[in-house]
Amino acid sequence: MTGAVVVDHPLVRHKLTLMREADTSTASFRQLLREISLLLAYEVTRDLPVELVEIDTPLTRMKAPKLAGKKLVFASILRAGNGLVDGMLDLVPSARVAHVGLYRDHETLQPVRYFFKAPADLSERLVIVVDPMLATGNSAVDAVTELKDAGAKDLRFLCLLAAPEGLARFAEAHPDVPVVTASIDERLNEHGYIVPGLGDAGDRLYGTK
Ligand code: URA
Repeated sequence: MTGAVVVDHPLVRHKLTLMREADTSTASFRQLLREISLLLAYEVTRDLPVELVEIDTPLTRMKAPKLAGKKLVFASILRAGNGLVDGMLDLVPSARVAHVGLYRDHETLQPVRYFFKAPADLSERLVIVVDPMLATGNSAVDAVTELKDAGAKDLRFLCLLAAPEGLARFAEAHPDVPVVTASIDERLNEHGYIVPGLGDAGDRLYGTK
């Protein structure tokens, strides 16, 4: 997997439209994010290697595929990343979870680090970093840098919406990390929000303002 992949599926597009609508309730937004995260997780794991193993069905012995290769880590950029990780864990319950605490300084738009906790064996795992919004790219770049510093070597970045500016910044800093997104929107506004976007993903997910 390389570059930026847009998940162009009717269910994803439909759910994303509902999430964008300003009058969608917190409960519906949360449920939609959970549902869409399953579809995005399906895409971001599409090319995982499998190997044939011998199994017994109730009727016969056969060779059947099982996941092979590296185990997964989902790395959530707090706090909105948790809304994606919760659904992804339904699909891959055995995945480990890392948390990267970053908030955006509203004046400088630069990420400020406040928390980091990850499994010790990051270097042996495929790390899927998640944040619903790839806006300026600053938080995404910093989170991936922290994870690489902690040993991660094989990473992917999963988001719901990406701004062209954020994608460019991310590709420049981490050309080895493919991005999977449900949409590439038009642009960033002067406050660093994605336009047309969906607003502040964390606020909409948790009903804060
Ligand atoms: N973070 C958000 O939650 N929304 C944006 O539009 C940009 C960054």
